[in-house]
Amino acid sequence: MAEKTDVVIIGAGAAGMMCAIEAGKRGRRVAVLDHAKAPGEKIRISGGGRCNFTNIHAGPKNFLSTNPHFSKSALARYTPRDFLALVEKHGIAWHEKTLGQLFCDHSAKDIIKMLLSEMRDVHADLRLETAIESVERHGAGFRVMTGEGPIDAQSLVVASGGKSIPKMGATGLAYRIAEQFGLGLIETRPGLVPLTLDPAQLEAIGELAGVAADAEARSGKTAFREAVLITHRGLSGPAILQISSYWREGQEIVLRLMPDIDIAAILKEIRRTHGKQAVQTALGDILPRRLAQFFADGAKLTGRQLADLSDKAINQLATSIQAWTIKPAGSEGYRTAEVTLGGVDTNGLDSKTMQAKAVPGLYFVGECVDVTGWLGGYNFQWAWASGFAAGQDA
Ligand code: FDA
Repeated sequence: MAEKTDVVIIGAGAAGMMCAIEAGKRGRRVAVLDHAKAPGEKIRISGGGRCNFTNIHAGPKNFLSTNPHFSKSALARYTPRDFLALVEKHGIAWHEKTLGQLFCDHSAKDIIKMLLSEMRDVHADLRLETAIESVERHGAGFRVMTGEGPIDAQSLVVASGGKSIPKMGATGLAYRIAEQFGLGLIETRPGLVPLTLDPAQLEAIGELAGVAADAEARSGKTAFREAVLITHRGLSGPAILQISSYWREGQEIVLRLMPDIDIAAILKEIRRTHGKQAVQTALGDILPRRLAQFFADGAKLTGRQLADLSDKAINQLATSIQAWTIKPAGSEGYRTAEVTLGGVDTNGLDSKTMQAKAVPGLYFVGECVDVTGWLGGYNFQWAWASGFAAGQDA
């Protein structure tokens, strides 16, 4: 005999727990199944352990999707202020770090405790270390075969996340279920991920590993202004993670270091007032020292005085720094990617409820859907908002 419940949610991550809370508030009997030992593992490690739980400015423009309008409805119905009200109701201290990014003052575990407490209040049944063997249509509902036996439910919510960080239990189950029920998939790829360089490029910039600088990173028409970090494998830092979601293999990225200043104009002014200054010394007042040396060497100007440089030579030097063009070899892949781009095609989903249009009772929420946020709390906001939307309907 199969056990019976109203709603089965696969995945006790951000989206699944939010959905459980909301469906439970409507009086639905909810079972949340997860193969992991603990719920919300990605919440626990997020934001350096402090969870960047939302972004106060989050709106549809901060998300990548084949259908940029799809996220509008869910984001409008559950806003960053709504999540903040929940955080405050639980007395969790928070702060804005930068650019609207809200973090816990103490620990990401406070967010997990908050969600678990809300789930307990509505008697949502959390079952960890539960393997999902198969999912099938059963009458008007669904039968989920688990390692502990079958469960029948009227509604099935798939909240099992994307492919990022397989070490933490990411499986791609959501995509298999979507395919099984005839939903389309948008090709998946790693997002918010460091970019790698080939061995020759690494040898050229190897000595810069560990250097960080303020920059604008551009790929095509999209640019992000934040820090860039040079590593032993290639490029990282927030500006690179952001642009990685837009970058495609074979494309170049252009870095404008120190985007607020006109390096050519400054060097010309120093040439006028302190013409005897060496190029690398002058650059050292503008850029981190190792970068200054790198660009002076690259232009074969180390040891030369500024007074010896023509306008053309100064302009070329400045361009090498403020239009630094790099062709990454690849990315670090799902091993370190914070998110998975692509996923369940939104064409097959109702944007108000996240229900599959052709399969009544089947819902997809969170990262498995083809809606991916920028770095900075947007991905959790999508998880809360899409989980909330399904929780009103499932
Ligand atoms: P999520 O991946 O959270 O949950 C899916 C759940 O399903 C997991 O509990 C998993 O165990 C379970 N599951 C998977 N396959 C299963 C199977 N076959 N059977 C049973 N259960 C299964 N975002 C943000 O906004 N702010 C931030 O600070 C960060 N920081 C951050 C750091 C790092 C290191 C990473 C990797 C990611 C972030 N993110 C982030 C992104 C954020 O973590 C992500 O967008 C959300 O966790 C997605 O929530 P979901 O609930 O959709 O999936």
